Amino acid sequence: MIKNITSDIRYIGVDDLDLDLFESQYVVPEGMSYNSYLVLDDKVAILDTVDARKGEEWLRILEEALGGRKPDYLVVQHMEPDHSGCILALTEKYPDIRIVATAKALVFLNQFFEGKSFNTQAVKEGDTLELGAHTLQFILAAMVHWPEVMVSFDRKDKVLFAADAFGKFGALSKCGYFGEEDDDWACEARRYYFNICGKYGAPVQVLLKKVLPLQPAVIAPLHGPILRKDLGQYLDLYNTWSSYGVETEGVFIACASIHGGTLAVAEHLKEILLAKGCPKVAFSDLTRDDQAEAVEDAFRYGRMVLAASSYDGGLFSPAYNFLHTLQMKSWQKRKVALIENGTWAPAAGKVMKEMFGAMKEVEIVGEPVTIRSRMKESDQAALEALADAILQ
Ligand code: FEO
Repeated sequence: MIKNITSDIRYIGVDDLDLDLFESQYVVPEGMSYNSYLVLDDKVAILDTVDARKGEEWLRILEEALGGRKPDYLVVQHMEPDHSGCILALTEKYPDIRIVATAKALVFLNQFFEGKSFNTQAVKEGDTLELGAHTLQFILAAMVHWPEVMVSFDRKDKVLFAADAFGKFGALSKCGYFGEEDDDWACEARRYYFNICGKYGAPVQVLLKKVLPLQPAVIAPLHGPILRKDLGQYLDLYNTWSSYGVETEGVFIACASIHGGTLAVAEHLKEILLAKGCPKVAFSDLTRDDQAEAVEDAFRYGRMVLAASSYDGGLFSPAYNFLHTLQMKSWQKRKVALIENGTWAPAAGKVMKEMFGAMKEVEIVGEPVTIRSRMKESDQAALEALADAILQ
């Protein structure tokens, strides 16, 4: 699809509606977009290709948008294959094109396309590419979320080409091509951010500090809608997310139950919390629900209750896997409360304590509650006390 962003800048990305799992791990019920951009000036620059799954379609769109011209530059902001997948096909079609990228990206280029030779130009922080009226300024964004990443700023139209930053899951034919057409941007942008960039809060903070003084008028990410209205809302969310701040007041309950006993306790705790005035209680059944959404909610709220069954003398694997993922994502600065269940030798609580104990600034509050097989009337007082502790 071709969309005009400014008089000289085009969106030339593609939608992928048949993808089962993005990065072979994230469900994308609304598909995925691989964004690509074209700057038409005295010189012509493409900013990033797309996933090879959509290569033929993208090359057709590019040719139409070029209107008979030939591209001079391909700016490679990120070498992950969902953006670099068509570099070879592009350079075979336009052999004079020059690839502009960081030195690290050029190393990766040779790793992905071993034995191929390319016309390349390495750029570093602050370097520019003169296209005519437009000048692209390059800003390094190492570890957002790969080490070779850079973003690009068009000085004339103040468009920030943001690589994966400010991206979201979802095809643009479904959620709209521009941010103002997308009435629930944050939902899938948050799930995307925390699962893909969550570990890299500090580098995202560094990037924000570099791009904010530029006062972009448009943010053009490599996934999701082009943002051009009320940019403060997106920038504020990115600041909260990357500083591990609390976005929404409330409690997130995550539960991993084998036969339903632990699930019943967790659902009961939700009722207790709501009765005590908790403004919002989000809930995830880790055995059934999307884990990426559970990760998102763990970051969104400042307080979490984890209720889990014991298994094989340890922690039931859906809860173990969830905690392992939180460790990988550098989950931090949160309060947690624990509920374990076990029929003969409850062991989940010990493992949960150890795993949370290894995380940064994670405080276990209240007395962990141990359920024996099924919740009983005698457990009520301990659950009430746990609810008070997590709400304090
Ligand atoms: Fe969209 Fe990190 O690739």
